Amino acid sequence: MNPFQSARLSAKAFGDNFLWGVAIAAQQNEGGHNVGGRGVSIWDVFSRRNGKIKGGTNPLVSCDFYHRYKEDLLLAKALGFNSFRFSISWPRILPEGIGRVNKEGIAFYNKLIDECLELGLTPLVTLYHWDLPQPLEKEGGWTSYRMQRWFARFATVCAEEFGDRVKNWIVLNEPASFTSLGYMLGKHAPGKTGLTNYFSAIHQAVLAQADGGEILRALVHKSYIGTTFSCSEVLPFSTKEEDVLAAKRVDVILNRLFIEPALGRGYPQDDFKLIERLEIHNKAWKYTDRMHFKFDFIGLQNYFPVVVRHNSIIPHIHASEVKAATRKVPHTGLGWEVNAESFYRIIKRFWLYGTVKEILITENGAAYKDEVKNAVVNDEQRVDYFKQHLQAALRAKHEGVNIKGYYAWTLTDNFEWAEGYKARFGLIHVDFKTQLRTIKNSGYWFRDFLKQA
Ligand code: NOJ
Repeated sequence: MNPFQSARLSAKAFGDNFLWGVAIAAQQNEGGHNVGGRGVSIWDVFSRRNGKIKGGTNPLVSCDFYHRYKEDLLLAKALGFNSFRFSISWPRILPEGIGRVNKEGIAFYNKLIDECLELGLTPLVTLYHWDLPQPLEKEGGWTSYRMQRWFARFATVCAEEFGDRVKNWIVLNEPASFTSLGYMLGKHAPGKTGLTNYFSAIHQAVLAQADGGEILRALVHKSYIGTTFSCSEVLPFSTKEEDVLAAKRVDVILNRLFIEPALGRGYPQDDFKLIERLEIHNKAWKYTDRMHFKFDFIGLQNYFPVVVRHNSIIPHIHASEVKAATRKVPHTGLGWEVNAESFYRIIKRFWLYGTVKEILITENGAAYKDEVKNAVVNDEQRVDYFKQHLQAALRAKHEGVNIKGYYAWTLTDNFEWAEGYKARFGLIHVDFKTQLRTIKNSGYWFRDFLKQA
């Protein structure tokens, strides 16, 4: 029998007090870029640059969560979720990045938090989901050592303003993604490139990750604090030694670079020589203790595994991905491989660090080209994706992994970074011209599934 079908999939099987949530992010959902005293973010600026965002679109309005949050929270509730993950827009709270606090921004999140609590949606709040205030980017952004001070200020304001009601916190969202895409490859805001920027950004993020944890723990009574990592199983294309070594290097970058310092192990020193240069660049040996924080939980976000082969043309990493379409395996609208067994394996692997106490799956989901026909979105493939991945998570849980929650990405279609609006991940379809919401069949599937919880 296929072990993935061994335990019958039901919401109840995940146990009592399990956090069932949907996740969103300020920059991807809020819009309202120039209302309520919000400052400018690096994504507002980056999206104006030619050719950076597919379709030439931008996040300035998006799905207008800023004005429609009540309606959207009601939808999350109606689908049966008991938790809601969102992020706080740094430029809405501190328009200049530091200094003056924007009272209207605080008021917005107060309303949002109160509304969540009233509806029985436990808030899970991300401090940083990639929307750095532009004035800080002008001063070097994540490459500047001053980030330690700036981020501490932002974290302190959020903890003091919201910590009486928000207990569950995530410090950083996918640091491996925003540092590599934004500061090495130039594909995300702020569009910087090169090793020097990348090395500095990594180290500042590692320090902010731990500092944020310390600040929240000191200021929030009865807090539950984590940080969240993207993870992808990395497999070599062949058994050739050069492919195996390439997979190990990519694994360091995608899976190990941020969790290992957080767990007190310092940067991962084996398998990739380049990390020595990262350490020298940042004099990292001076900071081993400061990089460490005892998080209450680790957030994991997984979408797909990657298969890589040696490629000497690609600078530094000398590896390239062999896409799912080339390998002729099932994939989503974004070309991401659909492979729930790999999801199971990567969860188990993070658990094997041994010092991870609890895991929240803080994102998981799939993008397809959805269409509304007669007020129906029949997104069967997404339903299958969720069924398979929940089954895989349940298997890991039954085998002893302490998984405490699962958050689907995402509630409504939204701004998918460099992919713009074509990549639809929502359980709810959004017509971006009219802002009309249509619950997709995957949303109804969750509603029926969660009824039994
Ligand atoms: C991870 C990111 O946290 C989120 O912002 C993004 O939309 C999803 N992955 C899908 O790419």
